[in-house]
Amino acid sequence: MTDDQGEMMRRRIVAANWKMNMTSDEAGAFINTIREGINGKEAEVHIIPPFVDIAVVKDALKGTDILVGAQNMYYEDKGAFTGEISADMLTCLGVHSVVIGHSERRNIFSEDDEMINLKVKKALEKGLVPILCCGESLDTREAGKVSEWINAQIESAFSGISAQDAVKCIIAYEPIWAIGTGKVATTDQAQEVCLLIREKIKELYGSETAEDIHILYGGSVKADNCKELFECPDIDGGLVGGASLKPEFVDIVNA
Ligand code: 13P
Repeated sequence: MTDDQGEMMRRRIVAANWKMNMTSDEAGAFINTIREGINGKEAEVHIIPPFVDIAVVKDALKGTDILVGAQNMYYEDKGAFTGEISADMLTCLGVHSVVIGHSERRNIFSEDDEMINLKVKKALEKGLVPILCCGESLDTREAGKVSEWINAQIESAFSGISAQDAVKCIIAYEPIWAIGTGKVATTDQAQEVCLLIREKIKELYGSETAEDIHILYGGSVKADNCKELFECPDIDGGLVGGASLKPEFVDIVNA
């Protein structure tokens, strides 16, 4: 896609992170209600259900251009890792993308930067698109340390990754204080951090990679606030939690 000046434009991406919601029965029924509304749109749509719903969702999306993602994966290929899911298990099901480093994984399940880096590398090695999450807590924001925090998260997540691979990643900026709270970041706050992330990518990989990489905003994205967020120059779409479980998701994709 190109703009009026013939410059390459980044495609919009809207990703639905269902988190731990929807049984497989519910998942199939829900996809049937939103399928037509989200198919064939300009935006690239990713539905990211719990692992056990992936096969049902894939099946319900047959014949559409909607992509399926996973919410997590482990960085080892196989072995004695009870309860974990490998990249090969995901690709075998036709999964396209995988969320890595969501703040709920970092905070509730103690995933650290080193583990997140290993997961990003493994996902890339196996041909999955990592949706790498970053974001600061309210304390970090109030202490005026947002840029320091985000830069460190990005630097560590991309450590040892080539520019050729980095550009395949999608980055999601999700301020922790805006997740599930109804407290959306202002467009200025969201744009400011997404620009900061793009500048960090430029520092690490140069301007071409920075111009091409997709950066999403996540945190209380709803049908009534998504348009102005998605219009910001450095925000290429959204990672949607709560609102992706409702028919409202169709309106977000259409925005
Ligand atoms: P909410 O949209 O429910 O705030 O969740 C955002 C999120 O964490 C998506 O990954």
